[in-house]
Amino acid sequence: MLTNRRRKGKYQYTLPSPDSYPYQWLWDSCFHAIILTHYNTEDAKKELLSLVAKQFTNGMIPHMNYWQESKKKNFPKIDWGEKDSSSITQPPMLAYAVWQIYQKDQDLEFLSNLYGYMKLFYNYLLKERDPREHHITGIINPDESGEDNSPRFDIPLDLPPKQTIKQNYQKRLELISKNHECNFDAPYCMKNFFWVKDVPFNSILVENLKLLSLIAAKLNFDKESEYYHHQALLIKHAMRKLMLDDGIFWSTYGKNYKKIKVKTWAIFSPLFAKVATDQEAKRLIKNYFLNPDEFYLPFILPTTSKSDPAFDPKGFWRGPIWMATNWIVFKGLKNYDFHAEAEYLLDCSLKLLEKSGFREQFNPFTGKGYGARNFTWGGLIVDMLAS
Ligand code: GLC
Repeated sequence: MLTNRRRKGKYQYTLPSPDSYPYQWLWDSCFHAIILTHYNTEDAKKELLSLVAKQFTNGMIPHMNYWQESKKKNFPKIDWGEKDSSSITQPPMLAYAVWQIYQKDQDLEFLSNLYGYMKLFYNYLLKERDPREHHITGIINPDESGEDNSPRFDIPLDLPPKQTIKQNYQKRLELISKNHECNFDAPYCMKNFFWVKDVPFNSILVENLKLLSLIAAKLNFDKESEYYHHQALLIKHAMRKLMLDDGIFWSTYGKNYKKIKVKTWAIFSPLFAKVATDQEAKRLIKNYFLNPDEFYLPFILPTTSKSDPAFDPKGFWRGPIWMATNWIVFKGLKNYDFHAEAEYLLDCSLKLLEKSGFREQFNPFTGKGYGARNFTWGGLIVDMLAS
């Protein structure tokens, strides 16, 4: 974490990987803050203060802040609309990270400093990302999910389950040029080019709204606290109404919420926000988590099920294990008292780090590491060990 730290003026942030990722990323910085709460809450606060520094006036927080120009030749130069940040967002883990910091040091002043940014951000998501007021939020580009080439987005991008990284990248570039056409205006972009409601994004939002409600209560904003709690419940109910089929939550696309029945780790993400019932959770664990034909491979948890036609153990988000998704599923398992399964997931995560180091992703059959090196997400193990 210290090696990856960078400073710009009064701002301080952490690169996910100095060799591969030269900027500050939204959900990465939330994970960094969560990791840093175990070492130094002041550094955790600084990470988030620099994250919110480039918030848009409409409340959106960019998924990338370009504090310094990248000298990396291998980092794709994508025009995301702005000069010093992108114009899309990422899974809204901010309130979670802020709340965890507050749990450590009870610093009300920090809560109060961050509250205005959070209020704007979550209000933006609740309004601009849900123009039909159906209580479910949309994303305008796969990159907003944090899972760039996940097979959940193949149908909306008109891609086959078996594809090359290049083909996927090409389609995402085409979508970015459409995002430009509509000036990154979310309601228009969603309706016309990429009408997707993603399960993890909404699960993460539900959990974060619950915590934002607790934060508002701490600051004596009782009405707002009630409002955010209520919004969390509304999204939970909408997810159950629009995404659930035979006990499984599926991401949807299009006007009428067509379900994208592609089996990825996302089916476990509702556990993170207690959106599933105990019965649903039990079935999910038995039929999918503990099933060697689905997700229970020699190393867990693959991001795509072995039985899915899109599964590729070397395919970035199409099979390999990522530490942040392991952390989210770990928290979800704990919520439902699946302690043995959570311990096993933790054990596997530790083994992967011991075997292959702090890599970006890991092969679920061999544990071999892929992608970026000195990648920060492995640090989430510290938070899992402390849970
Ligand atoms: C990759 C990941 C994304 C992450 C970024 C920086 O694009 O897919 O989730 O935020 O790298 O680590």
